[in-house]
Amino acid sequence: MRVTSEQILQALSTVVEPERGKSIVRLNMVKGLTVDGATVSFTVMLKHPGTAFARGVVAACRQAIHEHVGPDLDVRVETDAEMIGLGDDIQISGGGASEPPGPPPGVLNFVAVASGKGGVGKSTVAANLAVALARQGYDVGLVDTDIYGPSVPTMFGVRDEKPRVNDRRKIIPLERHGVRLLSMGFMVDPARAVIWRGPMVSSAVRQFLGDADWGELDYLILDLPPGTGDIQLTIVQTIPLTAAIVVSTPQDVALADARKGVAMFENVQVPVLGIVENMAYFTPPDLPDRKYYLFGRGGARKLAGELGVPFLGEIPIEQVVRETGDTGTPVVLAEPESVSARAFHRLAEETVRQVTLRNAMAPPTQKVEILHR
Ligand SMILES: Nc1ncnc2c1ncn2[C@@H]1O[C@H](COP(=O)(O)OP(=O)(O)OP(=O)(O)O)[C@@H](O)[C@H]1O
Ligand SMILES: [Mg+2]
Repeated sequence: MRVTSEQILQALSTVVEPERGKSIVRLNMVKGLTVDGATVSFTVMLKHPGTAFARGVVAACRQAIHEHVGPDLDVRVETDAEMIGLGDDIQISGGGASEPPGPPPGVLNFVAVASGKGGVGKSTVAANLAVALARQGYDVGLVDTDIYGPSVPTMFGVRDEKPRVNDRRKIIPLERHGVRLLSMGFMVDPARAVIWRGPMVSSAVRQFLGDADWGELDYLILDLPPGTGDIQLTIVQTIPLTAAIVVSTPQDVALADARKGVAMFENVQVPVLGIVENMAYFTPPDLPDRKYYLFGRGGARKLAGELGVPFLGEIPIEQVVRETGDTGTPVVLAEPESVSARAFHRLAEETVRQVTLRNAMAPPTQKVEILHR
């Protein structure tokens, strides 16, 4: 029997951290996972390694793997001290007015949704991905960083609402459809933001993220503005992104821009989680088993293969996607049985799978580099 990292992670998902009530896998506590034949090695990151509690966690890990994967596996578990999140470590918030706050503590994964080309469906993908993840039981936030053309307020039907500030002077995200939401559109008049340059936008986004009380989130999804210019680059460099999803449509122009998007993330060492193809095919409502590839077939999958990044899936073009986006309830909720809603659910599952694998395979300690100071 060949043992996979995924089987091990599935087994470890049954080990729950009692204080936060989530599994050690979901809390990114498993690092440096390797499977070599019948030998499984990994490190569990704990606040207090070396205590009786830590030994209990190690025993539970071993037991879970022996029980769910194979009783004869050689399981080598180490424990190490959990790195303090940037948010805990550096308290920029109370400091000088010119220093934007650090990234929000309590957020486990930051996932950006980007594209080279405009109008390919980034915001639609970001919104539906967020709702699908929330439906699947994760704690999810969504930030619209597109100050020139914010769309989250429309897609979630919160255009007339403004977030409030709590007694610690933190912004409380709005909550709609099970997702915590903030949009630059709540704060900045898009007409006035047109003259902003990249560093201004980036600093505003950072401020905005760090000044919000997100609570505990499994995923914070960031909807980026279109393009691969100065603005995208500065946002991407100043937020500690876990990974990025690049959206493309099947047309050659969009694929060429998706290639630029992937290159941009790779240049700044942000892992690309994969490429998703939106508006990939059309299924007539009366012929639900047919798929018409109106703009060509397999382009994004091929590009992903060529660039060595995962292909995360294809989303069909469907009238309900646009209609539900315009009326404030993403299709995943409004038409849960539609072909596109199901495709978004599969995208969410694949996103979780890829993020989980990456987090667990990553080395236990990482050098924190602050690029902009
Ligand atoms: N799969 C789909 N089926 C049908 N319509 C879609 C689909 N995906 C997106 N749309 C529609 O296409 C339009 C553009 O989508 P969206 O605003 O999500 O793109 P975007 O990439 O975020 O655009 P921008 O670059 O301006 O930020 C919207 O009207 C949206 O409803
Ligand atoms: Mg958009």
